[in-house]
Amino acid sequence: MSNNKKSTASTVAMKGGGYYSESTRGAKDVIDKASTLLFDAVDQITEPQNQQAVQIADMGSADGGTSKETVYNLVAKLRERWPERQIVVTYTDLPSNDYSQLFKNMAGMTDTPEFTYAKDFDDVFVHGSGTSFHQQILPDDTLNIGFSATAMHWISDRPCMIGNHVHMVGSEGETRDKFAVQAAKDWEGILLARAAELAVGGRFVFMNFCIDEEGRYLGNTGGVNMFNTFHQLWEDMRDAGQITDQEYKNATFPQFYRTEEQFTAPMKDLNSPVYKAGLRVASSFTGVVDCPYQRKFNDSSEMSNRDYAVSLIPTMRSWSETVFKTALSDERSEEEKAQLVDAFYQNYEDLVAEDPTGHAMDYVHCYMVVEKVA
Ligand SMILES: C[S@@+](CC[C@H](N)C(=O)[O-])C[C@H]1O[C@@H](n2cnc3c(N)ncnc32)[C@H](O)[C@@H]1O
Repeated sequence: MSNNKKSTASTVAMKGGGYYSESTRGAKDVIDKASTLLFDAVDQITEPQNQQAVQIADMGSADGGTSKETVYNLVAKLRERWPERQIVVTYTDLPSNDYSQLFKNMAGMTDTPEFTYAKDFDDVFVHGSGTSFHQQILPDDTLNIGFSATAMHWISDRPCMIGNHVHMVGSEGETRDKFAVQAAKDWEGILLARAAELAVGGRFVFMNFCIDEEGRYLGNTGGVNMFNTFHQLWEDMRDAGQITDQEYKNATFPQFYRTEEQFTAPMKDLNSPVYKAGLRVASSFTGVVDCPYQRKFNDSSEMSNRDYAVSLIPTMRSWSETVFKTALSDERSEEEKAQLVDAFYQNYEDLVAEDPTGHAMDYVHCYMVVEKVA
């Protein structure tokens, strides 16, 4: 079968149709944990001039479900400070995102209609943009409070295929260096785009996956390493002849988990274009949010090992499936691809059901508030 190296963008899409928010309680916990950083920003930002609207943006929003409660409370807090001020909330993601689900969520047209702020508050306008956060999305000097949660680890391009693993956390040497160079370039681009968009006195709250001071990262906090498991199961399918060697190699996540130092460096270096563009770190810290599925399992005497496995795998699948699916050759039918991907996640489920010890997806983030100075 032919080498079917796919574009990076086609590997990033999340599953649509509401699947995302339902299976990502942990992502909501991350935003909830950082919500005070956003509420504090309400008191810290400079008032928009000439009665202009306050501009809020959620970048890499998916269907907006996980940030809805926080945005509701953010709007309420802005209204306390400026009772009459118009507010624009812009959701941004890739063009492939399920914007229909996003707008249904914002209109309260789902079975979770709570926190529909555009209904509960007057003069709040909800917009959407399909421009990547690697580019400038909003006009110059217009953004007052921005945030991005669990999204900016997606790099704009894979510098190479990893070959003997599926993720940069399992890569070494020259391969790892190539990913680091790409990630640094992307991070500078992301920051320069935000520097252009932010109004002076505006703030951006980044909640990004990271590798923390103890070397922990998503799905690797002391138990079974999730990315090693992904790799092992994918390799097993190659060894069993279910997928080709090329398909095995094609599964490379276009992601990079930066350290807190890598995140803050461009804003501390007086010679960097980002520093010159006016971005400064107001605060930064790393933190772990426990896997909500493991928490529930540990607290429940009713759940079987299989119940736990059945609850855990969809959250992993929601963001990883496209990487494995697009690694498969286009010579296969859609049905065949779906069957192979189903088998892959079924193998993961069976592994967890056999012995759930150490299997979990704890979130490890760097929380960073950035402000734009004159
Ligand atoms: C794990 S989801 C996080 C969604 C939401 N922010 C949350 O915290 O629940 C990552 C999101 O980032 C989006 N994304 C990835 N690369 C992107 C890019 N270059 N520009 C905009 N969005 C991107 C994906 O499409 C996806 O919706």
